Amino acid sequence: MPLSVAILAAGKGVRMKSDVPKVLHTLAGRPLIEHVVNVAEALSANEIFVVYGDDGHVVRENLSHLKVNWIEQQAPLGTADAVKQLLPILNPKHHVLILYGDVPLISQETLNRLISRTPKDAIGWLTDEVSQPSDFGRIIRDSDGNPVAIVEAKDATAAQKEISEVNTGICLVPAKYLHAWIPEIKNNNKQDEYYLTDIFEMAVDHGVSITTVSPKSSLEVLGVNNNSQLAYLERVFQQQQAETYMHAGLTLLDPRRFDVRGNLVFGKDVIVDVNVVVEGEVKIGKNCFIGANVFLKNVTIGNNVVIQANSYLEEAAVGDECVVGPFARLRPGAELLNKVKIGNFVEIKKSTIGEGSKVSHLSYVGDSIIGKHVNFGAGTITCNYDGVHKATSYIEDNVFIGSNSCIVSPVTIEKNATIGAGSVITQDAPKDKLTLARARQVTVKNWKRPVKKD
Ligand code: UD1
Ligand code: CA
Repeated sequence: MPLSVAILAAGKGVRMKSDVPKVLHTLAGRPLIEHVVNVAEALSANEIFVVYGDDGHVVRENLSHLKVNWIEQQAPLGTADAVKQLLPILNPKHHVLILYGDVPLISQETLNRLISRTPKDAIGWLTDEVSQPSDFGRIIRDSDGNPVAIVEAKDATAAQKEISEVNTGICLVPAKYLHAWIPEIKNNNKQDEYYLTDIFEMAVDHGVSITTVSPKSSLEVLGVNNNSQLAYLERVFQQQQAETYMHAGLTLLDPRRFDVRGNLVFGKDVIVDVNVVVEGEVKIGKNCFIGANVFLKNVTIGNNVVIQANSYLEEAAVGDECVVGPFARLRPGAELLNKVKIGNFVEIKKSTIGEGSKVSHLSYVGDSIIGKHVNFGAGTITCNYDGVHKATSYIEDNVFIGSNSCIVSPVTIEKNATIGAGSVITQDAPKDKLTLARARQVTVKNWKRPVKKD
């Protein structure tokens, strides 16, 4: 069955109280509508339409990477008017699956069920039993239990409001019926809107059968109208994701305090402490420990690695058997080879740290290539920036740098060199030698502390 998916996203979203269009607000780091487009893609639809409204250019610009057909609805006159915008380009031989840009958790499984259970010339409608039907349209059934109409909450009588079966809005309709009926829909209701739900009664009038299907979970059909609902769906999504990861073998000390906004790939025996945030593409090898409050964004971590609490790693690579943190920061381009130790209050940027090297305390390493088994003393800084240009320093194997030294780039510190503590190194230091670059200690004779005169 050729399938077109129409994602309605032209509503104003005023209750978000935001200048950002509603469907661009993010769930797990991705715009709401992207979740819906992704599920539509997974259904192998022939085409995906997104109906956007007057702030639509912002939506289009932000989502230019999505392969969809953008259709403008000039004024939000109702859900039927939104679908009407598609009619000129809608193939009458297709079925149309209608989804919503602000209902992000709808699952492929539920949609496949709606598609497979709906006979060819029938209409499929996703309805749900809920304990608090509040604003949802109510499904009206006749005495034989056949669905005959949808009444909007605002138009419903007190008795109809008691009905707990509601319209999720999601439906599957042969395009030929949309072509025939949408132009006939009137807006004579409390909201002066063109209701898509009117096609329900039209189908009954024309003897077209309606198959109702319910979602696997009621959470799937929840929409986002305000920030409270957005936060709720974020928790639902994170919890579902955490369950999936745990079943795949990840140990989470508290799945409620673990957020993934992207993709996580991990090996066996990875333990994650509380409040860890993962963004973008993150890969963790086997037998690793990720401490509390660690932030990982686009990071690759090898095997047998410990990332201690409160560390921040972004666009960095960590080799096998490294120990990082607590309170370490790896910035873009930081590459730790195997068995490296990065300690507290150490910042590494665009530098390679060779195997077995240690930068244990209070250091900044930027634009540098560090060899094997190098020891950076506490407080050692690479001065990689003269205010205009960045420069690279090379620190070769087995170098030992005394505490509180400044390595003023560009310089090379050759193999086995030792740098005395407190040195300011502005020239290359030769291999195997001790280099000092600081004033020598003197004790001043006959010096007295000044005393206050009255
Ligand atoms: C709609 C349904 C209601 C259902 C509920 C489920 C109708 C008439 N009512 O009501 O039965 O229970 O969804 O959440 O369909 N939109 C447009 N253009 C418009 C109007 C809306 O694109 O002119 C889009 C919105 O962006 C939104 C969706 O359609 O994604 C639903 O619109 P909304 O105004 O929220 O409809 P409800 O009143 O909630
Ligand atoms: Ca709504």
